[in-house]
Amino acid sequence: MIIINTIEELQIELNAHRQDGKRIGFVPTMGNLHDGHLSLVEVAKTKSDIVVVSLFVNPTQFGPNEDFDSYPRTLEADCEKLESKGADIVFAPATEEVYPKWPNITSVHVAQLGNNHCGASRPGHFDGVTTVVSKLFNMVRPDCAIFGEKDFQQIAIIRRMVSDLNFPIEIIGAPIIREKNGLAMSSRNGYLSTEEKDHASHLQKTLQWAKSEIKNGCTDFRQLEIEANQKIEALGFVPDYFNITNQETLALAESCDKDLVILLASFMGKVRLIDNIQI
Ligand code: PAF
Repeated sequence: MIIINTIEELQIELNAHRQDGKRIGFVPTMGNLHDGHLSLVEVAKTKSDIVVVSLFVNPTQFGPNEDFDSYPRTLEADCEKLESKGADIVFAPATEEVYPKWPNITSVHVAQLGNNHCGASRPGHFDGVTTVVSKLFNMVRPDCAIFGEKDFQQIAIIRRMVSDLNFPIEIIGAPIIREKNGLAMSSRNGYLSTEEKDHASHLQKTLQWAKSEIKNGCTDFRQLEIEANQKIEALGFVPDYFNITNQETLALAESCDKDLVILLASFMGKVRLIDNIQI
C-alpha cells in the first residue's frame, strides 16, 4: 500500500494503472476508520482492481459550531487498518492541496434532496459534501465509488449529482455495519462512553418498532413519527428528526408509497447520531 499526499503524484500512479487496463475503485472517507469503513474497502475490492481510499477531514461540510477542530485525525492507525484490508493507495491530502484558493467560491448544490432531514439541521453541510466529493472524483477519476448506506441522504444526493453532472462513475451503496448491540457504527460513537453506546442502541430499536408498525398495517405515518419522537425523548435523547420518507425522493412518505426509508437523527448530549431503516 502506498500513501500519497499530492494530486500530481496520485494521478501519475493512477494513470499507470489505467494504462494497464485496471479498474479503479474509490472509498472517500474522513478517516478515524471503523469496521463500517473497512467494509466499504471490502466491497471496493470485489468491484475493482485498484482500491484508493481518501482520508480527508473536509472543512466545508462542517457548520461553524460543529466538531471540525476536534474531529479525530488518526492517520497512522487508519493506514494500518487499510493495509490489513488490502487497500492499494491511501490519498491523504492537506487542506491546501484540496482547497488551494481559500475560501472556495465554487460549490456543487443538489437542490431538493438536500433541503430536509440532515440538510435542514445542518445548513450547507451537503453542499460541502457534494463539492468535496466532486473534487475528489476529479482527482481520483475512479470507475466506481463506494458509500455507506448509514448516510442514506448523502448517498441519494451523490447518486443524483453523478447522474445530473454525467460523472462516469458507478456509485455503489454498502449496508450499515452495526455494533453487536445494534448501534450503527460511526466515527462519532468514539465520543460516547460504553454505557452511552449501549443506551444509544435504543435508537435502532425505535426504528425497528416503527418498521413493524408499518408492516402491521399502520399508514398514519405522521402520527407514527410523533410517537417515535416521544419514545426517543422518553429515553433521554433530544430528537432532531424521525422522518418516514419515500426512498427515492426523500420526501415525507404518503400512505400509497411502496419503498420507504425511515431517517433518524438524535442528540445524546452533544453527540448527534444518525441511523435509518429501509422498508
Ligand atoms: O461520509 C463521509 O465520510 C464524508 O461525508 C465524505 C463522503 C468522505 C466527504 O467528505
